[in-house]
Amino acid sequence: MPKRLLLIPAAGVGERMKIGYPKQYLPLMGEYSMLEVTVNRLSAMELFDQVAVVVSESDAYIDKCRFDSEVSIFRCGGATRAQSVLNGLKALKAEDEDWVFVHDAARPCIDKDSVVRLIESLEDSRIDGAILALKVTDTIKWVNEDYLIEKTIDRSHCYRALTPQVFRSGQLIAALTSADTLVTDEAGAMERSRAKIKVVEGSSINIKVTYPNDIDIVRQNLKALNKKRGIYK
Ligand code: C5P
Repeated sequence: MPKRLLLIPAAGVGERMKIGYPKQYLPLMGEYSMLEVTVNRLSAMELFDQVAVVVSESDAYIDKCRFDSEVSIFRCGGATRAQSVLNGLKALKAEDEDWVFVHDAARPCIDKDSVVRLIESLEDSRIDGAILALKVTDTIKWVNEDYLIEKTIDRSHCYRALTPQVFRSGQLIAALTSADTLVTDEAGAMERSRAKIKVVEGSSINIKVTYPNDIDIVRQNLKALNKKRGIYK
């Protein structure tokens, strides 16, 4: 049986958050940082054989983190998210067939129902992997460098990619090894080898914390989640 491994890249600097330290260490729920909330929520789901976090070599905060269960810490972050994930995959030393679920540290509002749907989608033996995603509801414009609209994209085919994204360890390592700098998620690397990737309906509260305004939204979302399911479910 292939294992289910969770890899959380947390080696970004989070410049757009403008707080002077990496956004994953921002206190989110009481004393708990964003990274602690993300990791503890996912560990509490009891769906993974191993949980690992990738931080940068110079990370000065990770040792103070309070994780509720065992977490492997890999100090091998790279210059890009793709590089951090690739280095983390190599450190995991998984079997080629193992499923690796990659989830942004900056998405603390991940819910168990979405992850279960993602896992269930892997029962389809025709697919190489799957991602959580949301159908786009706004009309999408393709805009040039002068902020002038060039065209409207048919939104009926558009989905926003969320995380987790799950692929076989061996295939993902191969895809990321040959990925260029334009790759911003695992699916993006896998698509280039014509992999069959299933889109699984995610949740709109699973937002990525990017700008200062996102913090209040995430705190509200976490409150709502905790009320519904108990603190980490
Ligand atoms: O910067 P962005 O919000 O897209 O980052 C998404 C996730 O990837 C975050 O959890 C961040 O810490 C991680 N990341 C990383 N290594 C980088 C850049 C981002 O692990 N070099």
